[in-house]
Amino acid sequence: MNKFIVVTGGTKGIGLAILQKFAQQGFDVATCSRSQKDLDTLKSELEKQHSCNVIVVKADMSKRNDIKVFSDAVIKLNRPVDVLVNNAGYFAQGQICTEPEGTLENTMEANVYSAYYMTRELVSLMKKNKKGHIFNMCSVASIKAYPSGASYGISKFALLGFSKVLREELKKYGIRVTAVMPGATRTASWEKSDLPEDRFMKSEDIADLVYASHALSDKSVVEEIVIRPQLGDI
Ligand SMILES: NC(=O)c1ccc[n+]([C@@H]2O[C@H](COP(=O)([O-])OP(=O)(O)OC[C@H]3O[C@@H](n4cnc5c(N)ncnc54)[C@H](OP(=O)(O)O)[C@@H]3O)[C@@H](O)[C@H]2O)c1
Repeated sequence: MNKFIVVTGGTKGIGLAILQKFAQQGFDVATCSRSQKDLDTLKSELEKQHSCNVIVVKADMSKRNDIKVFSDAVIKLNRPVDVLVNNAGYFAQGQICTEPEGTLENTMEANVYSAYYMTRELVSLMKKNKKGHIFNMCSVASIKAYPSGASYGISKFALLGFSKVLREELKKYGIRVTAVMPGATRTASWEKSDLPEDRFMKSEDIADLVYASHALSDKSVVEEIVIRPQLGDI
């Protein structure tokens, strides 16, 4: 049976690149996003390109009920989850003193609680199998303060905290936990930016690193990945 990866937010950007990389390597995949149309397109393209099964579920990961719908669909398959990538999230510009009230709450729901609840739903499957690998899509904004993305930065610091605690908690179960901290990566998140291409990384490079970290033996865990554009931060 193929190995199995679950990626939240896999129809675009870094999540999509990760799905493509793992599908290429013979994994079956499950993913979600808020657009059924994008999910249907992704499923038919991936299944055409690779000999893998693709499960797609429409779910807004900032909503507790939708997380349950997606995780229940995965659990119902009754098979081991080898890799979970908590990837769904978004960037919103703003400063602590001036951003609209509610920005922090909304950003935390989408970027942090999504990973917390999705992990809680799927970790018992991994514990049962005494193996698994959880990647949390943090950011260089998890380790450096960027004043133009206030709530985003707060959420990504929190997600790194979540990842570190999870790593300690899951050591004894044979489950690996990796925090991925990319700098600027050319994706839909940056579509309004007119910065030159060489200020960005390719999402495929992030996917290659995630795959390489997973492909190591179970004896090792890459705890943190920090990767920036060659020219540094924007
Ligand atoms: N790009 C960068 O420079 C960069 C750098 C560091 C970290 N990151 C992190 O990497 C992750 C992916 O970023 P990206 O740039 O690849 O973003 P992206 O190109 O905007 O893609 C995001 C993906 O997640 C889905 N998504 C977004 N919000 C969702 C939600 N609430 N529920 C379910 N699916 C959702 C999107 O589909 P729908 O919109 O249709 O739902 C899409 O498939 C994020 O956590 C981001 O913070 C990105």
